[in-house]
This record gives sequence, structure tokens and C-alpha cells, in this order.
Amino acid sequence: MKYSNELEAAKKAASEASKIIQKYASDQSFDIDLKGKNDLVTDADVASEQKIIQILLQAFPGDHILAEESSVKSTLPAGRVWIIDPIDGTTNFAHKFPRYCVSIALWEDQQPKVGLVLEVASQELFTAVSGEGARLNGKDIHVSKNTDPSSSLIGTGFPYRSLHLVDNYLQLFKRMMDKTHGVRRPGTAAWDLCNVACGRFEGFYEYGLSPWDVAAGALIIQEAGGVVCDWEGGENWLFGERIVAGNSSLRDFLLKEIQDCFEPEQLSK
Ligand code: IPD
Ligand code: CA
Ligand code: CA
Repeated sequence: MKYSNELEAAKKAASEASKIIQKYASDQSFDIDLKGKNDLVTDADVASEQKIIQILLQAFPGDHILAEESSVKSTLPAGRVWIIDPIDGTTNFAHKFPRYCVSIALWEDQQPKVGLVLEVASQELFTAVSGEGARLNGKDIHVSKNTDPSSSLIGTGFPYRSLHLVDNYLQLFKRMMDKTHGVRRPGTAAWDLCNVACGRFEGFYEYGLSPWDVAAGALIIQEAGGVVCDWEGGENWLFGERIVAGNSSLRDFLLKEIQDCFEPEQLSK
């Protein structure tokens, strides 16, 4: 299988990071800093990111790194880039709420090639390699076949840093309450996307995201038969800060609802 060495390295890095995070969680001895309003970072984020980078660069010394705690969010360099979120769901982690993930993706020539999301508390391991399908703990997964919004479960993320679009968001949220089975907000975008990939959620939408939140989960959805796009229906979801995902019917439904509730100039950054 192509990229099998890369997937193995990502698994090893995630497993070692997960041990570090679990140790901090069980000791409950970590410092919490604020990078901005409601933007938390702990010692566990920094230590686990360093371990991931060390393992990946040991295996692939020429590769680039785009990692939340040690890189500037800009554009993807040419060639191979590992996109890393050491803890996606730091607010959950800091509050002992058990949904937080290690997210690791390899992109090459602007395309996702490998994606891995490990939910630390449950040890659910989602993986995908481009063209090879998606797996949960080694078993093939697929997006939901349900195309009816009224019996669909939808995932989202609540705005909690910049609130300037919150009125539009709440209008959309009200529509979702009315038109679907319900809305869930687990607090880790990487795992939310994996919940679409394995059919728990029919669709997902959020704005205010960073590349490391979505780089792995989006490939896992695509390899599970789903689709992702930005809020204009285009491909700029890695750096565009807005994503909508699902099986293709629910993605189309969500995209239309989003475009009804936000002004055209609010659909991109
Ligand atoms: C956050 C989580 C959260 C999402 C935020 C992200 P972090 O990542 O994915 O679910 O709503 O937008 O920033 O800060 O915990 O790595
Ligand atoms: Ca994140
Ligand atoms: Ca993070």
C-alpha cells in the first residue's frame, strides 16, 4: 500500500502523544495559558506536539511541518507537509471532558494523502490513505446513506472566540433544530468530522477553523465516501476557516441553509 510507512509513523507518533496526554490527564498537573480569548494551550499540547514532530522528522527528515503550537498559519509549502494538531479539543481536555484528539495529516503537492485522528479517552483510531478507504480501529467505515435531513443528526462547533457572526449562526442553528433530528457539539472538530465518516452524523458545519482542525478529518470523510467543501461550495476549506461536510445530499442541504443564513461576503474570510 502506498504511504504505508507514513501511516505507520503517524500511528506511532499519535500513540506516543496519547500516552503523554493521558499522563497529564491522570496527574491533573498542567498549566493552562491563553493564546487569545477562549484559546487555551496547556503543557500537554506543547509536550505532545514536540513528541509528534520528533517521531515524524526522524522517519522523514526532509518533510515540512505545520503544527498548531509551533507554526504560523499561512500557506502550505510545496512538497510534503505534516499538518498536526496535538490536542484538538483542548478546552475539553482542560475541563476533564473526555473528547480530545490527536490529529495528524500528510499533504503532498496540496493534496491530502494520509489522515489520522486518535480520540485519546476512548482510543478510537480513525485512519485514511488517499485512494485506500477509511477505517475505524482497522475496520472499513462509510458515511451514512440517509439522505433525509428530517431524520439526520448534525454536528457543529459553536463560535466561542470571535462572535461577530453569531446572529447568523444562531439563525442557522434554529433552522437545524427545526429541520433535523438534532445537533451535537462535541468540541473537537477533527473527531466531529470522523463522526461523519463513520455515519454517526449525516453532516457537519463550522466556521473559525484552522488547517490542523480539518486536514486529517476531511480526508477520512472523503475516503469514507463523503464530501467536504467551503461555504461557497468550493475547495478552499483547508485555509478558508469554514467547512461543510457530509454525505453528498446532506452536504448540499447544509450548504443551502448556510447560504440562506449568511451574507455572501460572510461565506469566505
Ligand atoms: C478547536 C476544536 C473545537 C472547534 C475550534 C477549534 P483546539 O481546536 O476543534 O471543536 O470548535 O474551532 O479551534 O483549539 O481545541 O485545538
Ligand atoms: Ca484544533
Ligand atoms: Ca489544538
